[in-house]
This record gives sequence, C-alpha cells and structure tokens, in this order.
Amino acid sequence: MSVWTVTGGRALSGSVRVQGSKNAALPVLAACVLVRGVTLLENCPCLSDVDCAVSILRELGCRVQQQDGGLLIDARGELRSCIPLSLMERMRSSALFLGALLGRNGEAEGFQPGGCSLGERPIDYHLLAFRALGARVSEQGSEILCRADALQGAVITLPGKSVGATENALLAACGAKGESVIRNAAAEPEILCLCAFLRAAGAEIEGEGSNTIRVRGFSSREQVRFRIPSDRIASASYLCFALASRGEITLLDCPVSELRPVLQQLGALGAEVREGANTLTLRMPRRPRGSLSVSSGPYPLFPTDAMPLLLAVCASAEGESTFRENIFSDRLRYVPALQAMGADIRADRREAAVRGVERLHGAAVEGTDLRGSAALLCAALGAEGESVIRDAGHLERGYERADALLRQLGAEIKKE
Ligand code: EPU
Repeated sequence: MSVWTVTGGRALSGSVRVQGSKNAALPVLAACVLVRGVTLLENCPCLSDVDCAVSILRELGCRVQQQDGGLLIDARGELRSCIPLSLMERMRSSALFLGALLGRNGEAEGFQPGGCSLGERPIDYHLLAFRALGARVSEQGSEILCRADALQGAVITLPGKSVGATENALLAACGAKGESVIRNAAAEPEILCLCAFLRAAGAEIEGEGSNTIRVRGFSSREQVRFRIPSDRIASASYLCFALASRGEITLLDCPVSELRPVLQQLGALGAEVREGANTLTLRMPRRPRGSLSVSSGPYPLFPTDAMPLLLAVCASAEGESTFRENIFSDRLRYVPALQAMGADIRADRREAAVRGVERLHGAAVEGTDLRGSAALLCAALGAEGESVIRDAGHLERGYERADALLRQLGAEIKKE
C-alpha cells in the first residue's frame, strides 16, 4: 500500500510538462489489437493503468517493448481472444479489448471490468453495440463471451452518452463488413484521439466530435506511428494544486482549448491565467474567493474527473459553492476525508454544498479512487500541517511521477 505524507502550506512555483493522456492512451492501446502490424506510440504516459493495458496486449500474444522513447506494439500473427480475470478486474478500460478482439478475431472472452468505484458502472451499452453488429453475446456471472461469424456494419444507437461504449462500438465496427453509424456518440477529446489513431491505421471515419460517427471496416496498414495527446485532466489537476497552495505554475504542452470550462471556474475564484498557444500560466497570490455553482456533464461541459479537485480548492476558498455530479451515481466518497481535514461540506451521493473555511488542517485520510485521491492531495498541499494519505496507489493509475514533479515545484511530500 502506498502512503503519501504531505506537509502543506508550501506555495508551488515552477513549470511542468503535461503528461500524455491516460484516457486517450488506453483506448489507443486496445486499438493496437486491430493493427495487423507494428505500432509505435509516442508520449504514452508511465502509469499503472498503462502497465495493465500492456500486460493484456502481451497476454493476447503481442510483443511490446520500449523503443525510440515510445512504446512499440507488434501485433503480427495470431492473437488469443481471452482476457484473464486478474487483468480485467484491474481497470475499467480492460473492457475495450473486448471490442478490439471482436473486431480482429470475431470473438472475445473476458469478464466485467474493474476500475474506480464511482457507483454503478455497467457495460450494457457496450454489449448492445456488439449485438447490433451481429455478435452473439452471453454473460455467465461476471464472464462475458462474444462471438460473431462475420460482423456486419449496422446502425448502433447508444441509449445514453458513454465514452467507453462509443470507443468500444468504434473498435468492433472497424472489424465489420461495410459502414456502421454510431448514434448518440460521445464527443470527448479522447474519442477524437481514438478516431485519429484508427484513421492513421487505415480506417475511414466521419463525424467524430458530433452526435453521429460513421466508420467503415478496414484492413489495417502494417506500420502505424502515433502521438498520444496531452492529458486535460492532469492539466486541470496541476492547476488546482497550484491554486490550493496559493502558488504559480506554468503548464507546457497543455491542451488549452480543452480546458475552457475548468479555466472559467478557476478565473471566477480569482486565479490570474495567462494563455499561450499550448502553455498556460496560473497565479494565485491570495486566498481564492468566489461562490461557484458547478455541474458536471459530457464534453464540452464541466468534466466529472476535475470536479473533486475543484471541490477541494473551494473547501478553503472564501465563499459558498455548490457541486452537482451528473455522470456517476456515487462519486463523492472522498468527502468524509475532506471533512476530516476541517472542510465544511454537506453532501449526499450527487450533490455537495461547500462553505470555504479559512484553512484546512492536516489529517490521516484514505484514498478512495483516482480523482478522489487527487482531491485529497490537493487539499493536503494547501492545508496547515501534515497529512498522511493512505491507499494513495490510486494516484499512480493516473498521474505520472506526481510526487517527484510536485517536489520540484516546492511541495514537501514523502512517498512510502
Ligand atoms: N453507462 C451505462 N452503461 C454503459 C456505459 C456507461 O449505464 O454501458 C453509464 C455509466 O454508469 C455512467 C455514464 O454512463 O453513469 C457515463 O459513463 P462513461 O461510459 O462515459 O464512462 P467511462 O467510459 O467508464 C470514461 C473515463 C472516466 C470519465 C468518464 C466520463 C476512461 C478510462 N475513463 O469512463 O475517467 O470519468 O469517461 O468522462 O476513459 C478517470 O480518469 O478517473 C475516470 C473515471
């Protein structure tokens, strides 16, 4: 178990190059299964979730190695169709290998995926997409079996907005005969990234970023080279770390245009923000002040993954703010830990009212999930005294070398 000890109250100062995006890298790694050749991925972040995706690729029979500062995935030859339970239960994105395997082999065997506990997270929309393409899908307990004699392009109408289901529909449709139309598709930047990768591999795709995506089944190129874009949620997190510590930070390689809804809220708290083409500098020389009303939603609305961090900032801002979580049914599990640090928060499963206190204080707390743990880290950086965050291994799933980077910015953090 990873334990982080953070001594708060050190104003962060300096610059950070933003890591490659976790949620863009994971679907692209699954999509490498569709490439009957060799893929070189650049800027793939070093994270435990990426390690898990690499383990799945190896388990299926791909050769994966570091080369030229990137990750080289060789998916030539026969691939197995079965993903073991021990890997499926480590992360949510393991489910994307089902769609990719179905697309490549016409069959896939796996289990219900694990991942952060944020409430109910079924994969019924994913399976609906596979069925629409002609696959027979059966579920026995947590086991999932998908089989198709020949996937056939089809209209797939997703019952709700889902990033993962849109990605899985795209992956499986790449192996179908003819054109598929995905209706009610998600429009997150990670969908655009997956489409860019699939196009680089030879796919014909139209409409990504809108409600309707059209994709044709294809035979892949033999060599693909692709760069994973920068992480918008890691960017938002570092901005919140700087704000909570009343410091200053410059983000390099920052996806500025994807951060609009976050920047709007940070500006409303008094942060001074200077934008470059792909750099961002944020300065917060005093206590944040403002009363926000934040509601999460699909892109381009406020991202659910940044909400825990903003809430942690508001816990010691001057003002009263309200937060409503519209994506996941039980995401506010980190709130009791913030309360243990002195935060004044009234919350149920979806809503929180936060009355900012002058200063949070250090406490012994436990990480609940990736972004919840990042919220605790954010609070600890601004708090008075020492915080001990137990079960902080969640952070390593999404933040590359966060302890080292934060120490470079002046934070006092020990990791055991
Ligand atoms: N949903 C269903 N059935 C499905 C699929 C989704 O009911 O078959 C529901 C979910 O339960 C949820 C909503 O639809 O209430 C939206 O879920 P979505 O499928 O969009 O989320 P996801 O694909 O599981 C990805 C990110 C999350 C991020 C969400 C929303 C990855 C690996 N994960 O999850 O990121 O919060 O989209 O943007 O891309 C994180 O990075 O910490 C994280 C949780």
